[in-house]
Amino acid sequence: MKFNGSTLKFAIQKKGRLLNSSLDLLRRIGLDFEISENKLSSRVRNFDIDLIFLRDDDIPEYVEDGVCDLGIVGQNIIEERQADIGIIEKLGFGRCQLAIAIPKSSSIKKLQDLNGKRLATSYPRLLEQFLNKQKVKATMVELHGSVELAPALQVAEGICDLVSTGATLKLNGLKILQTIFDSQAVLIKKYGFLSPAKKLIINQLLLRIKASLFGQNNKYLLMNASRKILPQLLQFIPALKSPTITPLAAPDMIAIHSVVPAKQVWEVMAKVKNCGASGILVLPIENMMP
Ligand code: PRP
Ligand code: ZN
Repeated sequence: MKFNGSTLKFAIQKKGRLLNSSLDLLRRIGLDFEISENKLSSRVRNFDIDLIFLRDDDIPEYVEDGVCDLGIVGQNIIEERQADIGIIEKLGFGRCQLAIAIPKSSSIKKLQDLNGKRLATSYPRLLEQFLNKQKVKATMVELHGSVELAPALQVAEGICDLVSTGATLKLNGLKILQTIFDSQAVLIKKYGFLSPAKKLIINQLLLRIKASLFGQNNKYLLMNASRKILPQLLQFIPALKSPTITPLAAPDMIAIHSVVPAKQVWEVMAKVKNCGASGILVLPIENMMP
């Protein structure tokens, strides 16, 4: 098979933490494609896009070199590689931390105890930067996988690796000593020339991604209330602009519709209920362009 140079190439993690959420996002914004287990690329039917499945560690380089035009990858890898690419959107999934961890029974209690110790990591640049800032002198043992095994194998006294659910640490009898970087998935773009056709597609995708993320982060809140409590209710409703107020058939009754940050929705529901609102309803928002 041969790739067409004019087709936009979009790099996605081949397997691992980001794969499913990346594919979900692409489907949510309307890309129509199929993937099969061993296929390393996939043609999008309704856009001039090829999805290219790569090792996450290779994605920044492919985008930097212009082999791929877009990619989804962890911020941690971008920071470690110092990749010369543009981050165009934080995607809100694949959240994890880069952390220094030590065996549960370790005598190391604080950062300064790491002086003279060995730390195994796949993130030498970020770790070195952090240790320098903290004025800790430790030896780095660079590994490219199974970093969590290093203490048990007596290759190092501690590690510095990604922690997402914490399951891998737990399984290996390790605990976090210090978090050094918070990461999430980001959408990246190559610098330099892009054909007008590719630019157009990128703008379309970005608009849809923003609308989808906005939808995920907000809820549609509806309630009924007597008109006389409206001023009190409005104090509690963090509306995007101004809430929509419509009269109901019953005299002096109104319906209030509002877009509310998802994080605040339970709190707002309790407050307006307390205030006298009824029929309080929360609906998911699929997409929204504010
Ligand atoms: C990371 C990291 C840990 C694991 C932590 O790997 O290397 O081993 O995930 O996850 P947990 O806290 O949920 O157990 P990543 O997904 O980046 O894959 P890779 O290192 O093989 O590229
Ligand atoms: Zn990786």
